[in-house]
Amino acid sequence: MWNALGSLMTSRAGSPSKDKSTNDISGDSISKKTLSELREQYALLSEDAKQLMTEKMFLENELSQLKKRVNRLDEEIRSLRTPPYIIGNIQDVIGEKVVVRSSNGTIFLVSKNPRIDNSKILPGVRVSMNQDTLAVIDILEDAFDPLVSGAEIIEKPNINYSDLGGLDEQIREVRDAIELSLEKPESFEKFGIQPPKGVLLTGPPGTGKTMLAKAVASHTNATFLGLVGSELAQKYIGEGGRMVRELFSLARKKSPCIIFIDEIDAIGSKRLDSSTSGDREVQRTLMQLLSELDGFNSLDNVKVIAATNRPELLDKALLRPGRFDRIVEIPLPNIEGREAIFNVHARKMPLDKNVDFSKLSIITEGYSGAEIKAITIDVGMKAISEGVSKCKMSHFKDAISSIDTKRKGVQNNGPDRLYG
Ligand SMILES: Nc1ncnc2c1ncn2[C@@H]1O[C@H](COP(=O)(O)OP(=O)(O)OP(=O)(O)O)[C@@H](O)[C@H]1O
Ligand SMILES: [Mg+2]
Repeated sequence: MWNALGSLMTSRAGSPSKDKSTNDISGDSISKKTLSELREQYALLSEDAKQLMTEKMFLENELSQLKKRVNRLDEEIRSLRTPPYIIGNIQDVIGEKVVVRSSNGTIFLVSKNPRIDNSKILPGVRVSMNQDTLAVIDILEDAFDPLVSGAEIIEKPNINYSDLGGLDEQIREVRDAIELSLEKPESFEKFGIQPPKGVLLTGPPGTGKTMLAKAVASHTNATFLGLVGSELAQKYIGEGGRMVRELFSLARKKSPCIIFIDEIDAIGSKRLDSSTSGDREVQRTLMQLLSELDGFNSLDNVKVIAATNRPELLDKALLRPGRFDRIVEIPLPNIEGREAIFNVHARKMPLDKNVDFSKLSIITEGYSGAEIKAITIDVGMKAISEGVSKCKMSHFKDAISSIDTKRKGVQNNGPDRLYG
């Protein structure tokens, strides 16, 4: 703009000696020209100004965002630099002071953060404490052993009752004991009876005990906590008992809940006068399990399913009514059961017309469900390797005879022979 004015002034100043008339004409044209030029320039400049204004606003916005980020990062750095807190448990409350037990077992009388709600400060609660003064800083939630909290089966197994062949009676018993009392606790109250607390599944290996429990898991809406008995047998004294206690307290918190303990013989075997410290620890775990089974109210909506293939090893105390009220025996499948299991496992196999499961079930006397499954896998693999499109009866017979020889082999070459 100043340039334009300057040029205007110099153009005026530079023409005093010129003739008046010519001066007038040229003056007019110049002023017209410069005026339009000036307008144009003004428009351009105001456009520029607008742009700069929006740019300024944009930058101011960015600046405030960056300031916020700096604050957040400062906060993060500060929290990373704070010294670690000690974890302990409250033992007692004395006026404004609390008695805490730190993780190494020493007991202290300390002050507490005045902002903590007094009603939350109860004996047994887990707290974080300042490292120097051990003052209680905050209340923490109860923690569960990772093994216990990890026992929750979030993704339900995709197993249906219809995937189990020949176990209709057993399925009915388990469903009655577990599902009925979880779904209709009020009916039990009305009849004045206590619903069963637990079911023990017993039977030879490979007869579908684990599978039945998984089917219950996928069928109910209850939380399902599943673990193997051996996971509860721990190395350190008191650990197994603590885990059982945490398992049941987690179950009660998440009720309705089903606890499934597979291979329970790992901790439930008879208490003998054995003397190794490992045995004693396993027995302590069993005692904790017995007292938890007694302790929880059967209407607490917590049910226990356990499975074992060595029921004769189990402690009698586990088997009395009031603990595992129902003992469901899953025997080796009978002839109809075997046919049903063949049907389940060969459901998706392309079969030749002459394949007759009723005949196959006659020659597979004494086979377990797992062995029948192994036969169908064998047959499928043979058909694939031969390049045929359907499984034939001869494939089944071959597979059965090869499994037969393996079974005989085990009988004749089993570990007993080493000592015989
Ligand atoms: N009644 C059945 N119907 C269909 N499949 C079965 C049946 N019984 C066993 N099976 C098959 O056998 C496999 C092994 O069964 P499962 O793991 O339930 O045995 P288990 O009784 O728990 O044995 P263990 O006592 O050795 O633990 C299953 O994956 C399943 O495919
Ligand atoms: Mg099993």
